[in-house]
Parts: sequence; structure tokens; C-alpha cells
Amino acid sequence: MHIDIQLLPYPPDLGILSNCSVVVVDVLRATSVIVHALARGALEIVPVETVEEAFEKSKVFSRGTVLLGGERQSRKIEGFDLGNSPREYLPEVVKGKRIILTTTNGTRAFHFVFDGKEVMAASFLNVDAAANRCVELRNDLLIFLSGDEGRFSLEDAVCGGMLIDRIYGKGKPCSLTDASLVAHVLFQRFESNLDEALQASSHGKDLMRLGLGDDLAYCAQTDLFPVVPVFRDGVIRLLQNAEG
Ligand code: MLT
Repeated sequence: MHIDIQLLPYPPDLGILSNCSVVVVDVLRATSVIVHALARGALEIVPVETVEEAFEKSKVFSRGTVLLGGERQSRKIEGFDLGNSPREYLPEVVKGKRIILTTTNGTRAFHFVFDGKEVMAASFLNVDAAANRCVELRNDLLIFLSGDEGRFSLEDAVCGGMLIDRIYGKGKPCSLTDASLVAHVLFQRFESNLDEALQASSHGKDLMRLGLGDDLAYCAQTDLFPVVPVFRDGVIRLLQNAEG
């Protein structure tokens, strides 16, 4: 398996995408929210790019079946039901609900890579499940980091490096690009203390300044959920539901 990682969030070459699996990573906090909400019983997540689109989409579905979630400048959006803190997505709130989600970087990333052979979401919360699925699929892999408004994100690169490490650990022969090698080395630097990476990152510091530091500790937990969210036809569902 050939593993590449895109360290900056610009649209990849569509020709490359059609031949590989893609894993989107936004540890703080979009893919952590997606993994958490689906594991807690949400029916599906509809990632959209703008707030207006979110309001428009919500009108299509019957009242009571849909929730609006997401952030701008890391804060809950006016008129939305939920912000972008995984801890808000309680089972009693999200069970059976369709969540229309718009975030600054994470939801846009899914639209950049929609053309991948299989597009998945990963964070530390489901990294092993994502690695298992990548191995099972046997495609080449592109790990796509959502970044921070066009910039490199330390916590996403560490998570991408951990995904590579887990795939290696499953005995799969892999070839790495220079970028994947860098992500793997970075993961090894923070392996014994993932909290340190999240706290050192610029987005982590912004969240702490906003009083959202508890999200960092939550999102730094590994393998809480053995689930794989998959993005197909504009919607993210758990693998078993996407196929069923
Ligand atoms: C994003 O997609 O940009 C984020 O998840 C930002 C955040 O949650 O603060």
C-alpha cells in the first residue's frame, strides 16, 4: 500500500483520488465530532460549506428530525442547535437525528476529496478502526489533513502519523512518501503524550483561550469508538449503515 498525506488543505488532483482511499482528519474538532456523534447514535451527518446552505438544507427535512451543528471562529453559530464540541453531542440529543454540520475547515475538506474511492473520517477517537478499514480496502491511501484556514495543523499531522503507525502495525507492507514519513516521525515524538501535541498546537491554544480546553483532553483520547464514518453521496454515515 502506498501512503501519502496531504499536509496542507488544498484540493487534491482528482485523477489521483479516484484510485485511492481517502481519510479526512480534523482532530480539533470536526472529525472528532463526526465520529462521536455517529457513535452516539446520530443517523447521519450532512457536511456543508456555508451557514446559509445549512439553513436551506434543514428546511428539506421534517421538523424534529434534523439538528444544525458547527462553528465559526470555534463558537456556536446563531440559530444553530449545537456548536462544535463533541461533548455537546449527547446520545439523548443526537439519537436518530440527521445533523447538518458546517465548520471552518473540516466540512470543506470532505468536499475537496469527495471523488475518492472511499472517503472516511478519522480522529484519535477511532484511529484503529480507520486503520483496519484502510488495510481491508487494499487501495493506496491519501490522508487529507483539514488544517487551520489553509495552514498546517500539528494535531492533524500527529493523528495522520498515528494512522500510518497503526497500518504498519497490522503487518501491511507500505511505501511512504516524504510527507508520510514526516507525519510518522512527528507522531513518534508525541506518542507518549498526545495531550502535549494538542496543547502546543495553535488551534488548541485558541480553543483553550475560549474556555474550550476540555475539548482538547476529550479529542486526545484514542480508540474510544470502533467505528468508521464514510462519506458517500454528500452524506456521512457509519460504515455498516452506509452499506446497509
Ligand atoms: C473546523 O472544521 O475548522 C474546526 O473543527 C474548528 C473548530 O472546531 O474550532
